[in-house]
Amino acid sequence: MDATALENEARTAVAAAADLDALDEARIRYLGRRSDLKLALRDVRDRETGMTLNAARVAIEEALAAREEELRRAELERALVEDVLDVTLPGEKLHLGTLHPTTLTRRVIEDSFLGLGYEVLDDREVETVEFNFDKLAFPPAHPTRSPRDTFFFDAERLLRTETSPSQIHIMERKRPPIYMVSIGRVYRRDEITATRFPIFHQFEGLAVDENLTLADLKGTLLHVMRALYGEERQVRFRTHFFPFTEPSIEPDVSCPICDMSGCRTCKYTGWIEMGGAGMVDPLVFENVGLDPEEWTGFAFGCGIERAAQLRHGIPEIRPFWENDLRVLRQF
Ligand code: PHE
Repeated sequence: MDATALENEARTAVAAAADLDALDEARIRYLGRRSDLKLALRDVRDRETGMTLNAARVAIEEALAAREEELRRAELERALVEDVLDVTLPGEKLHLGTLHPTTLTRRVIEDSFLGLGYEVLDDREVETVEFNFDKLAFPPAHPTRSPRDTFFFDAERLLRTETSPSQIHIMERKRPPIYMVSIGRVYRRDEITATRFPIFHQFEGLAVDENLTLADLKGTLLHVMRALYGEERQVRFRTHFFPFTEPSIEPDVSCPICDMSGCRTCKYTGWIEMGGAGMVDPLVFENVGLDPEEWTGFAFGCGIERAAQLRHGIPEIRPFWENDLRVLRQF
């Protein structure tokens, strides 16, 4: 075999290899186990032929290594130019979860009552007629007792229509002084409209101590309304009736949307109704075994979606229950 011719042929092939794959093919072809050169080396009988063939092998190996180096450098240079990573481009936005507006509002309410030293609790949603109505002094013929207004499981059990049963539970559980706020869901058989939904949240406050007055109630409501709607808010009371408070009142907060200059939300009155409140009725104290001569108390209950609507400018209650991510991600 002509070692020089073979070496030249191999050099040409190596030089012509355009990429690393082509170079591997050339390596197998000229130096592989079944290449002419390897087969010839195996059959060598004399020293001179051996040296010539070996020299050709070394020369081809060197040519392969040099070409490989060349190709690798070219590849690196190409990558440096073409695969540029612009580290100043903005990254892909990750969607972290956000808190539901009801939760955000609930937390403001919790914090403001914790700051007043109230205990915050989360009571049962399934109630009995006894706790939801009887002990709260609802008269036997009160319309809310009817299955048209309230979701009943059977004659005794129902979904609570308000958080007020929490008042009874805590007064039966512990002696005054009591300062509690109970937060959770309530249920009413209402048609779904822009402003009503058959399930919603309330926060219920109850204070029982010696010598509490309407002024204490007003100060407490002012505190939470300012936490919810800003330091400028004012609170006023209108008289009302609830079976379990006497006197009963409805607190209004000065409109946080227009600051009392008049807008659609406050129907141009400057005030927004917040819920119900009043001094604990002596009948209720008697129902839980507390002496009305010894103890005084006030209570209040307000809707949370309502508060969240005002805080975030949400015109309807429905989005609170639809769980549309396009809405929820805005909070
Ligand atoms: N439970 C009443 C309601 O849902 C509100 C209220 C709570 C009134 C506490 C007085 C005292 O309308």
